[in-house]
Amino acid sequence: MIEILEMTLKDYEKIKDNLKEEFDDFWTPEILLSELNNKNSRYIVAKKGNEIVGFAGIIITPDSVEITNIVTKKRERKKGIGNLLLDKIIKIGEKTKRNNISLEVNEKNKIAINLYNKFGFKQVGLRKKYYNGKDNAIIMTKYFDI
Ligand SMILES: CC(C)(COP(=O)(O)OP(=O)(O)OC[C@H]1O[C@@H](n2cnc3c(N)ncnc32)[C@H](O)[C@@H]1OP(=O)(O)O)[C@@H](O)C(=O)NCCC(=O)NCCS
Repeated sequence: MIEILEMTLKDYEKIKDNLKEEFDDFWTPEILLSELNNKNSRYIVAKKGNEIVGFAGIIITPDSVEITNIVTKKRERKKGIGNLLLDKIIKIGEKTKRNNISLEVNEKNKIAINLYNKFGFKQVGLRKKYYNGKDNAIIMTKYFDI
């Protein structure tokens, strides 16, 4: 069974040295820690027993909620964990009474785009050559029903 819980510093300690290797995440431990300590951020983990199999986070700005990261452990993908994380992040976002939840995704990342489409996110913009000066970023938004 997978549980979705708020990320603690203890959780951070468990994953910080394996972000690249086990999650293929692009963040350094320092970035994750500073995000975790940001009073405008909220981070969650997916746990299978004691093992952290995914995590996700948002930053709450004055008028929107931005998804900063969502990732499933490499060997646990395609089992529904991304769905659980995104569902929870949207629910947390909705409670902030902001107007929408948004994110940037590499236009080549079809898997993530599929996931966001499934939850009703729509493309609202494009940032050319946003990643490594090469790949375009798609900006996707889901408006909350208010
Ligand atoms: C995107 C990511 C979080 C999905 O996590 P996951 O746990 O494998 O996702 P799930 O098993 O819950 O699948 C959720 C949806 O994602 C899409 N998806 C997942 N794997 C897919 C694949 N191999 N091909 C196509 N679509 C796929 C589908 O829409 C799927 O919906 P379905 O369950 O109805 O088929 C995961 O691939 C990941 O960690 N990628 C690297 C980090 C990343 O790119 N994050 C997004 C940054 S913007």
